[in-house]
Amino acid sequence: MPETTPDSTSHQSSSAPLIELDHASQVFHVKGKDLPAVSDVSLSVGAGEVLCLVGESGSGKTTTARLAAGLAPPSSGSVRFEGTDLTEMTRAQRREYRRAVQYIHQDPYASLNPIRSVRSTLSVPLRRHGLAHSAAEVDQRVDELLTTVDLMPPESYSAKFPHQLSGGQRQRVSVARGLTLSPRLLIADESTSMLDVSIRVSLLNMLTKLRKEDGVGFIYITHDLALAKYFAWEGRTAVMYLGKIVEVGPTPQVINNPQHPYTKALLEAVPEPDPELARQKKAGGGLLSADIPSLSDLPSGCTFHPRCPLAEDRCREVIPLLRSAPEAPAQDVACMVVTDPQPAASAGTAAGGGGLP
Ligand SMILES: Nc1ncnc2c1ncn2[C@@H]1O[C@H](COP(=O)(O)OP(=O)(O)OP(=O)(O)O)[C@@H](O)[C@H]1O
Ligand SMILES: [Mg+2]
Repeated sequence: MPETTPDSTSHQSSSAPLIELDHASQVFHVKGKDLPAVSDVSLSVGAGEVLCLVGESGSGKTTTARLAAGLAPPSSGSVRFEGTDLTEMTRAQRREYRRAVQYIHQDPYASLNPIRSVRSTLSVPLRRHGLAHSAAEVDQRVDELLTTVDLMPPESYSAKFPHQLSGGQRQRVSVARGLTLSPRLLIADESTSMLDVSIRVSLLNMLTKLRKEDGVGFIYITHDLALAKYFAWEGRTAVMYLGKIVEVGPTPQVINNPQHPYTKALLEAVPEPDPELARQKKAGGGLLSADIPSLSDLPSGCTFHPRCPLAEDRCREVIPLLRSAPEAPAQDVACMVVTDPQPAASAGTAAGGGGLP
C-alpha cells in the first residue's frame, strides 16, 4: 500500500514552509446568516520562524489558528503542511502532521482536564504516539518535560491535579503537553491575559529557546502588541481586522513604521512610557468610531472604512487587496489610500459626493 510513500502530486519539498494557508476562508452559518470569520487569508511559517497574529477580539485570530492546526477545514482555499494539502494527505502524513503541529490553548483554566494528574495529562499523547512504552519511560519523559517548562523539581508536580496548581503552573503544564510530541510548529493562542507579566515573559523566553535551539516554528496569537514586539521581534506580524489580514511584515517595521490606519490605531492604544514616543503617537490619526461592525452585516468596500480617518469615497466601494506599501516595501497593506494614493485633485473628501473608485 502506498500509505508511507509521499504523494507524488503533493509538491513536497524540503523548502516548503511548515504550514501555509492559501486564500483560506472560514464561514460560519449562524441563525440563517453567514459569518465570514476568516476571509481570504494567506500566510506561511517555516522552521524556526515566528508569525504573530494580532487584532481585536473577534478579528478571526483563533479561527485562523484552528485552520492551521487542522481543527476545522476551510470553507474555501487550502491549508498545506510541508507542501501537502491537508485534504490530500495519506494516513501516515496526517499522523506526522498531527504530531508535528500542536495547538496550545493558553487559557490554563479551560484546557486541562480536572480529573487527570499532571503525569496522566502528559502521558496520554506519549503513549498514543508510541513515544514511551514502559512506566519508567513515561516517568523519564514527564520529568524532562516538566524541567523544560521550569516546574522543578518535577516529582513535586507530576502527581498534582489542576486545582492544586496556580494559574501560571497550569499554563506551564499546558505548554508541556504541547511539547510532549516534540512538535515542529507550535500555535500558541494567548486568548486570555490572566497571567501576570513576569510569568508570561518567562514562558515566552522558554518558547524562544525552543525556536532558536530546536528550530520550532511558531504562530503566536495575542491582543497585546507589546507581547508581539517581545516574542516576534525577529519574525513577522500580521494584523487582522474582521477576518482579514490588513497589514503584514517584519515585526520591527510593522511596529515602528505601521502603514495601515488600523495598525496605527492599535499602536496608539498601547501605553507608551517614553514621553517623546508618546507625543509622536498622538500625532497619528485615531479611529472615527470605537464600534466594530458585525460580521453578519459587513460594511461595503473596505470593511474598515466607517472607522478610518483616511477613508475616501472609493473605500466604500472597492475591496482593497494586500499590496506592498510604497513607503515600506517589506510590508503588505490592504489599504488603497496607502498603496494607491490618488492625485490630490481627484481624491475623495470626507463629505462624500459621488467620487468614483
Ligand atoms: N464555531 C463558531 N460558530 C459561529 N461563530 C464563530 C465560531 N467561532 C468563532 N466565531 C465567530 O467568528 C469571529 C471570529 O472569532 P475568533 O474566535 O476567531 O476571534 P479572535 O480574534 O480569536 O477573538 P479573541 O481575541 O476574542 O479570542 C467572531 O465573531 C466569533 O463570534
Ligand atoms: Mg481567540
